[in-house]
Amino acid sequence: MRVTKIACIGAGYVGGPTMSVIAQKNPHIQVTVVDLNKARIDSWNAHDLNEIPIYEPGLAEVVGEARGRNLFFSTDVDGAIREADLIFISVNTPTKTYGKGKGQAADLKFIELCARQIADVAQSNKIIVEKSTIPVRTAATIKNILDNTGQGVQFQVLSNPEFLAEGTAIQDLHHPDRILIGGEDPEAIAALKAVYEAWVPSERIITTNLWSSELSKLVANAFLAQRVSSINSISELCEVTGANVEEVAHAIGQDSRIGSKFLKASVGFGGSCFQKDLLNLVYIARSYNLHEVANYWEQVILLNDHQKIRFAEKIINSMYNTVNGKKIAFMGWAFKKNTNDTRESAAIYVADHLLEEQAQLTVYDPKVSAIQMYKDLDALGNRSPEENRALLKVVNDPMEAAKDAHGLAILTEWDEFKSLDWMQIKTVMKKPAFIFDGRKLLDAEEMKALGFIYYAIGEKH
Ligand code: UDX
Ligand code: UDX
Repeated sequence: MRVTKIACIGAGYVGGPTMSVIAQKNPHIQVTVVDLNKARIDSWNAHDLNEIPIYEPGLAEVVGEARGRNLFFSTDVDGAIREADLIFISVNTPTKTYGKGKGQAADLKFIELCARQIADVAQSNKIIVEKSTIPVRTAATIKNILDNTGQGVQFQVLSNPEFLAEGTAIQDLHHPDRILIGGEDPEAIAALKAVYEAWVPSERIITTNLWSSELSKLVANAFLAQRVSSINSISELCEVTGANVEEVAHAIGQDSRIGSKFLKASVGFGGSCFQKDLLNLVYIARSYNLHEVANYWEQVILLNDHQKIRFAEKIINSMYNTVNGKKIAFMGWAFKKNTNDTRESAAIYVADHLLEEQAQLTVYDPKVSAIQMYKDLDALGNRSPEENRALLKVVNDPMEAAKDAHGLAILTEWDEFKSLDWMQIKTVMKKPAFIFDGRKLLDAEEMKALGFIYYAIGEKH
């Protein structure tokens, strides 16, 4: 079977970039990305490529190449389903906020809705591909719904998790370490494999059974998050012993069995995946009564929460145990550099903690809008929207953020922060001028020489 038409439900951070690259590399396949959110689809269709809804280096160029040729963005979900031979489901699967599994389990409501809609509309055989990260055995649910509510057509369900990281999505999609396809039907697997073989060497395409593929995605994220929590736990130890966490990370990373990546101590990991997938793993383990397994992985999240609060506490303690009425400049709000995504960003939680202490925050982030920042804070529900707007200001210029600030905290590792005029920043800040480097971005000696009181994660002060 040869795929000629692809539909993708969900034009988010995963669906949008992934389908853009699939279309770029397969000019003979028509790729239609659909979403319920009309505003989002309108932005994907924006004439000015700077206005597409997701900021990712290289994405605008890929969209520019394929859009209108064989890549289309639309709100006509039924139409796209009807025409496609292969349908990716790439809708969000947030942590449940209600009922059984609240705060831990993945909410599969959108996945189920997609399955029901596909069953309702499909008049020809289709391959359904789970792109969204989902709990193990979700494919069985999807298959069950399709087979019981469909109109007599054949559905094959495959799992094909996405491993791209935000900020490097296009690079990751163009040169993936591996593509993972889980499934039972050899023909369906071969059809999806052929789509990727347009640019990925076949030895990099791994095929497994459905359940291994579904579980591997959760496990990959859990292992990555665990490395960050491991090095962050050591950062606290470094701060009291005089060891330097960067030196420790370098020394252990040279051991090829450990490897050097994902050992950067930070103010805590964020992003839409790590915490959600860890919680999901913990929930699944508990639901099978594997309490030791669940507790083991839960600790990765607890340590991450500790790291964020510890950073906020460090700011308060250093500034003479009170930040009440003091202006603190935040450099960065995104959960990592090169993205405008703020989901679960450490900055939100550090800000919230400082606002509880009545600090006045002024935030500068090169890509995140003020609307988004207020949305993130309001969602925590700890203060009224009016209070959040009174206590936190958003500015477009780092120097303005620093002006009259008692302290400055680096929350995101944007490259441009390295080359700011730190001498000038020192001049405009109140004295003594504190810097709290949550990303170990700046040179400690240089900052101290400029006269800052400089604190970095994982270094004895
Ligand atoms: C999401 C999940 O978070 C991730 O676990 C999964 O691997 C892929 O999908 P992401 O693309 O980052 O990741 O989510 P998001 O940016 O929220 O995009 C999902 C899109 O699906 C939204 O634009 C939403 O409007 C759309 N959607 C959701 C539908 O079109 N139909 C629905 O029924 C539900
Ligand atoms: C992650 C996985 O890397 C990706 O494979 C999966 O598909 C989705 O989840 P993402 O969340 O986009 O990707 O970014 P990632 O680079 O993994 O960073 C996650 C968080 O960990 C960020 O807040 C980042 O700043 C933090 N981090 C990462 C560290 O603090 N230290 C590190 O060494 C690496």
